[in-house]
Amino acid sequence: MSQPKPLYLFANWKMYLDHAGSLALAKALAADTANIPPGGTVVVFPSALALPGVVDILASTPIAVGAQHGHWVAEGGYTGAVSMEMFRRAGAQFVLVGHSERRHLFHETNHEVRLQVEAALGAGLTPVLCMGETKAERERGDTPEVIETQLRSALQTLAWPGGVPLIIAYEPVWAISRGRDKLGLPCSGVTAEKMHELIVRLVAGLLPGVAPLTLFGGSVRAETVREYVKQPHVDGVLVGAASTQLASWQGIITNLY
Ligand code: PGA
Repeated sequence: MSQPKPLYLFANWKMYLDHAGSLALAKALAADTANIPPGGTVVVFPSALALPGVVDILASTPIAVGAQHGHWVAEGGYTGAVSMEMFRRAGAQFVLVGHSERRHLFHETNHEVRLQVEAALGAGLTPVLCMGETKAERERGDTPEVIETQLRSALQTLAWPGGVPLIIAYEPVWAISRGRDKLGLPCSGVTAEKMHELIVRLVAGLLPGVAPLTLFGGSVRAETVREYVKQPHVDGVLVGAASTQLASWQGIITNLY
């Protein structure tokens, strides 16, 4: 029997956990690394506030840490912002870029997403480029164009550095949870697969020779994770609400295959 494919399991803690809650979950994860699947890559994305503490706790484990958002300027008069460079110095290795909550709630534009991709790479962080269409865009039949625009503006003419994986998270906005108990609309594995295939095809045109890793995000739970990761073009999942409590995260990790 062939080996199962190595999976990317990313936990976006969003603003669900305060400082103490983040450190407590990080400690629980550090004590429970045995069930990470062979070859699996686990990354947690705590708040900026908790990130240094989480980095310390996870330092001797296989779990890496990423920032949820970083500013593209390295330092200066940008009240409230934390730069990519500062996150890298604090021990982050990854950063989410273009998450739909940043795009829609904080009005980040495709241009700002592009600046973040460039700044992340410049700072030595691996960006996780998030994208997805809204319900209205899907209903209008605009999904492929929306995805193409988000991809093109973020990646076109970029000299992608060798040795850095290009990680793209497809997260249809309509499928994302609105709270721990409020799931988004269901996205089938078949729909996710079609979108991931499209993303891989579009990237081949934009950055020839760079093969992206694609993660699915949107109300992933223990009961649904396998439906996504069994799809040929899905390399893993970006999990929000269900990654913020030990039991639901463990449920996802143990239900992968
Ligand atoms: P969710 O979030 O799992 O809570 O739907 C996913 C995401 O937005 O990254």
